[in-house]
Amino acid sequence: MLITAFPQPNISEDEYHLLRDLVYAESGIWLKDEKKNFLMNRAARRMRETNISSYYRYYKLLTGPDGKKELLDFLDALTINETSFFRNRPQMDVLSRKVLPEIIKRKRKGERPALKMWSAGCSTGQEPYTLAIILRESIPDIRNWQIKVLASDLSMTALEAAGRGVYAPEKMEGIDERLLGMYFCRDKSGYRVTDEIKRLVVFDHHNLMHDNGERDFDVIFCRNVLIYFDGQTQKNVIGRLRKALVPGGYLFLGHSETLQGIDDSFTFIHHDKGTAYRKNCD
Ligand SMILES: C[S@@+](CC[C@H](N)C(=O)[O-])C[C@H]1O[C@@H](n2cnc3c(N)ncnc32)[C@H](O)[C@@H]1O
Repeated sequence: MLITAFPQPNISEDEYHLLRDLVYAESGIWLKDEKKNFLMNRAARRMRETNISSYYRYYKLLTGPDGKKELLDFLDALTINETSFFRNRPQMDVLSRKVLPEIIKRKRKGERPALKMWSAGCSTGQEPYTLAIILRESIPDIRNWQIKVLASDLSMTALEAAGRGVYAPEKMEGIDERLLGMYFCRDKSGYRVTDEIKRLVVFDHHNLMHDNGERDFDVIFCRNVLIYFDGQTQKNVIGRLRKALVPGGYLFLGHSETLQGIDDSFTFIHHDKGTAYRKNCD
């Protein structure tokens, strides 16, 4: 039998609403009633770490003057970080076969061409590294380009793993042998992303509830993040992403996410089985 210093207390309706509403206000993550146990378990885990035995006292810590760091850890514990390399292959094909050739052709005319992409909600890094690999494959003279793949997330734990860029063999399933050999080094800790690819990616701790002031992205990936938000938060986040995109820039969402009823200033793009949105020029 497992004996812990603090047996997990039950959460009252009032405590549950206080914590749920706080999570929503701070991160946009809307935990439906069926997620009550999830919230309770994650809060209880953090309460053990902080030696607090009541949900109400934990709420007071989170909202008190010394609660900032713990609030970050609490939100971190609530994030779902599932991801993989080349996730949703048809979308990656839209990027490499349709979107990038068009952008690269247009930009190549400039003296020192620049291209900016953003993986918003990048989790443990597989998405931004996939984008960097696709860019490297699409631009043979990439050294002459100014490339930035911004990769941001709310979860510090996920970002730290992303920054390390080392993955267990079972995480490498989406990558074909040639790319694996070119852009990863195998060592005893796993598959390590090469410095050439790492240099293209800049990691940043960022909460999508706020505007980070970044602009002029040619392409934004914000996949499998909106599903955790309610309708109003989705609208607000998409509005901020729209501002961050250049006119004619591309937005990629997860396969169960849509702009329908959220924002009509984009055109839906369908290419083979992959989809994306193109921001309309005014
Ligand atoms: C399921 S993962 C998706 C990862 C990747 N985009 C993909 O599709 O494979 C969702 C990510 O969104 C992040 N997230 C959730 N709410 C966020 C917020 N308010 N601001 C920034 N990132 C957030 C989570 O931490 C998590 O890493």
